[in-house]
Amino acid sequence: MDKYVVKGGKQLFGQVDISGAKNAAVAIIPAALMVEGVCRIENIPQISDTKKLLEMLALMGAKIRFVNKTTLDIDCSNVHLSDDIYDLTRQIRASYYLIGSMLGRFGKASTTMPGGCNFGVRPIDQHIKGMKALGAVMDISRGFIKAEAKGGRLKGTRIYLDKVSVGATINVMIAATMASGITVIENVAREPHIVDLANFLNSMGADIRGAGTDVIKVRGVDKLHGGSYCLIPDQIEAGTYMAAVAGTGGEVTLTNVIPKHLDCISAKLIEMGVEIEEGEDFVTVRRTGELTHTNIKTLPYPGFPTDMQPQVSTVLALANGTSVVTEGVWDNRYKYVNELRKMGAEIQVDGKTAVIQGVKKLYGAPVAACDLRAGAAMVIAGLCAEGTTTIEDIVYIERGYQDFVGKLRKLGADIVKISDPDPKSDEGIAEAV
Ligand code: UD1
Repeated sequence: MDKYVVKGGKQLFGQVDISGAKNAAVAIIPAALMVEGVCRIENIPQISDTKKLLEMLALMGAKIRFVNKTTLDIDCSNVHLSDDIYDLTRQIRASYYLIGSMLGRFGKASTTMPGGCNFGVRPIDQHIKGMKALGAVMDISRGFIKAEAKGGRLKGTRIYLDKVSVGATINVMIAATMASGITVIENVAREPHIVDLANFLNSMGADIRGAGTDVIKVRGVDKLHGGSYCLIPDQIEAGTYMAAVAGTGGEVTLTNVIPKHLDCISAKLIEMGVEIEEGEDFVTVRRTGELTHTNIKTLPYPGFPTDMQPQVSTVLALANGTSVVTEGVWDNRYKYVNELRKMGAEIQVDGKTAVIQGVKKLYGAPVAACDLRAGAAMVIAGLCAEGTTTIEDIVYIERGYQDFVGKLRKLGADIVKISDPDPKSDEGIAEAV
């Protein structure tokens, strides 16, 4: 298995360019299945999740051409359902967006239950409720999802989501794009990548209003046409570098960011004693003094993002005093705490609450990435720790961070990736399309 080896204790300095948003890309690539014509997408992050989704589209007949490393043309003029995608759809969460886009494009869908990080139970009942309300007959059994629109096309309606769900909001919005009539989706999530997906679809001819508020209204269209679109920068990748600088100390400017999307993260880091300067499309993060404890509760946007909880909790493990972190989104997102304890962190977890007693130092140790953001937290812990930290299961980290090692090294970090000489151990990781 590949691993990262981090020698800690170095402060970070310099400039890092933030990549396109993973969670926007993993919604927009499946949505492109509905576009008849060439869509050019810029700022696609080079991560394994986007590679796998592109591979799925290719297996369904899409023609994909990279213009450069982060810009590609997707032509879904001649696409079809295919059983060949199932091995890939099982591996990542966002494959469930194909339910919405297949129903929009073909009037039927055929995929598997999605994979993705394990934060406890991850139901998709709200996705299914939305599809059913739009007139899909759903058949979910033995890990497969089959759906068919009554009469061959989904029909607009009013849908109230019982839970504020990013995934259900995206999936229902995608499905409604090509339904007949008007769909109103209430109690929706407001994350920046939901707005980005709506902007993408609108630029291809959709009629979606209200993304970024609690209610989204979709006037269904018969067809989507080609066009070009540039993805927003990744809020969580940016937040991860901000947390890393907070942990190690130093001064780093993050470029290609939307500072407004980072407000929820910046606010907490400032409480912890970090200095943050905002420009139009950059932020500079500086930490010279001691870190102060704070309390955090994760919430849907614009609240503090659950996807930043492991990284910032890791920094709080080194802050003066006691911090209380409450996970408000997922049932089981503290598995990484056992790994941090191996490095000397003092954290007690009781259900959704973690009580963090700051320590003076973390010490390098062999640890594992339990999931994508937990893996990023281990890297931050390793950068802050005295001695050497070895991080296994980095396949999780590479699902979501473009060139993590290269970007950190440019900032002065001592981190290397050690590749397993046995290529068989990388089976299941799709090659670039
Ligand atoms: C997305 C993100 C993930 C992030 C999460 C919350 C992607 C690919 N992943 O995940 O990184 O942590 O948003 O910001 O974008 N729920 C239900 N029923 C449903 C759907 C969700 O009860 O049908 C619950 C979940 O169990 C969870 C909460 O709603 O407690 C939020 O989940 P949701 O926003 O849907 O997360 P994902 O879209 O899976």
